[in-house]
Amino acid sequence: MTFDDGPGPYTARLLAIMKRHSARGTFFVVGRNAAANPQVLSQMAAEHHEIGNHTYDHPDLARLSNMGIRSEVQRTQQAVHQATGRWPTIMRPPYGSLNSRVNREVGMPVIMWRGDTQDWLYRSSGRVQRRVLKLAKRNAVILVHDVQKTTVSAMPATLNGLIRRGYTLVTISELYAGSRLLPGHVYGWG
Ligand code: NI
Repeated sequence: MTFDDGPGPYTARLLAIMKRHSARGTFFVVGRNAAANPQVLSQMAAEHHEIGNHTYDHPDLARLSNMGIRSEVQRTQQAVHQATGRWPTIMRPPYGSLNSRVNREVGMPVIMWRGDTQDWLYRSSGRVQRRVLKLAKRNAVILVHDVQKTTVSAMPATLNGLIRRGYTLVTISELYAGSRLLPGHVYGWG
């Protein structure tokens, strides 16, 4: 599972839910939210979740200059490092907006996802649960948003459903353990 756009008001609750289910996940954080909630970030790191870079202000990177793209990425790297002492090694562009120029300027491995739950659109816990269980398959990268209250409310039942089906929830780095993720390459489709 990957959780985008946080940390937000429900992220601490999500961390408690993840802990109860012994589930690890990857949080693609927005730098400005990370800078505002450093204690939630350090808790994520301490509880063995992974933190990825999702830009500082969540812009469409394809509309920014090269310097603008680099600034969005680097300020987020700094915010995460400040809170956790670690540098993110993976990145996800807002809206999945990526072209060869953005990819080059980002300069990190890019992680996409297997199919959108559209949790931000429908804001229904029941729908989140059904969509995640439908999209789930071995080694799949699932995208939801921890800034959505309904998504966090859906997680206890969703995680139970996944675990009952035999899945183990791991971070992106654990998922790709053994194969080195390369800058300029895109992972997580399919
Ligand atoms: Ni996003």
